[in-house]
Amino acid sequence: MLPPLRIGPLTVDTPVVLAPMAGVTNRAFRRLCREHGAGLYVAEMVTSRALVERTEESMRIIRHDDDERPRSVQVYGVDPATVGAAVRMLVEEDRADHVDLNFGCPVPKVTRRGGGAVLPWKRDLFAAIVRAAVEAARPGGVPVTVKMRKGVDEDHLTYLEAGLVAQDLGVAAVALHARTAADYYSGTADWDAIARLKETVTDVPVLGNGDIWSAEDALEMVARTGCDGVVVGRGCQGRPWLFADLAAAFHGSDARVRPGLGEVAAVVRRHGELMIEEFGDELKAMREMRKHMAWYLKGYVVGGSLRARLGLVETFAQLEDLLGELDLTQPYPGAAAEGQRGRAGSPKRPVLPEGWLDSRDLDDAFRSALAEAELSVSGG
Ligand SMILES: Cc1cc2nc3c(=O)[nH]c(=O)nc-3n(C[C@H](O)[C@H](O)[C@H](O)COP(=O)(O)O)c2cc1C
Repeated sequence: MLPPLRIGPLTVDTPVVLAPMAGVTNRAFRRLCREHGAGLYVAEMVTSRALVERTEESMRIIRHDDDERPRSVQVYGVDPATVGAAVRMLVEEDRADHVDLNFGCPVPKVTRRGGGAVLPWKRDLFAAIVRAAVEAARPGGVPVTVKMRKGVDEDHLTYLEAGLVAQDLGVAAVALHARTAADYYSGTADWDAIARLKETVTDVPVLGNGDIWSAEDALEMVARTGCDGVVVGRGCQGRPWLFADLAAAFHGSDARVRPGLGEVAAVVRRHGELMIEEFGDELKAMREMRKHMAWYLKGYVVGGSLRARLGLVETFAQLEDLLGELDLTQPYPGAAAEGQRGRAGSPKRPVLPEGWLDSRDLDDAFRSALAEAELSVSGG
């Protein structure tokens, strides 16, 4: 059990954060999670440049329901001035109550240009981005947090130093996905690193992230690392009710949601409805729902043909018909529905700009490449 999580002026009674996930944690999914539990629900990341340019997609990403509080937005950027401008826009136009900065993206097209999880290696640039965001947010009293990985690889770790720098610059919390860029999503998260960060960063809350698949995992992470709160990503894909389990666990109850297939089908239907509201386009909404099907149905007995048809759904009426074909009396399958889900894979040698690791300072040659690092990102 933990006390409420304090992020600047915000109090989060249950110290649980929904990890930002591009393509997943949109307004519809956050609402679904909120209907089951309590916590801080972070939106999909938005790039600072897209936000400053007010692209249609970036404006969709930062939209919140009227009753969604706190309104949390995650910004990804590589240029201090643009990040500052994006945060200023969020604050001056009263579009967010919390801004998280993304330094965790491991995808090659981002790290190739020096962005994402390999950016904190350039310590001045990291500090400049964090400083710009904190200064832009201060007039509105909006707390800024940093989400990062351990570093480039085991020989080039950055998280302890970056945590201290961020703390000194006035962030309200730091979150660590306890893997390096090279780990990608492989193996198991290194919770010992979260414990080391907690020993190092002592003035602001430290949030632990990586491989929480159940409420028991969350309690274990807290016990093992001393972290002030947990950040849950893949574990809630296809299981928004995990937030009910987490809330129960953090309040000392061992009540857990164990849905039969009928209850799962009802949540899928609700998710589909909310997605149509989110995108205002039924086909787009149903296309986005397809990837969720395998997550929702993990562990339940569902025939291959029905699974395949759910994975190709095009209309809401079709979704309802297909859900009606499920054996809605099927009980919760236990372990088969639990454990790891979502993105996995093997370690990858991070693709870096040539010479990136030679120096901790940014030289001009990297600056222009970096600007492009923001143009084509998605995911974390
Ligand atoms: C589909 C997907 C999209 C993600 N998008 C983002 C993102 O936009 N911003 C970010 O900081 N991390 C992103 N991440 C990383 C997660 O926030 C989280 O750090 C990671 O999945 C580890 O936590 P978990 O083990 O609980 O999943 C993404 C992860 C996944 C699986």
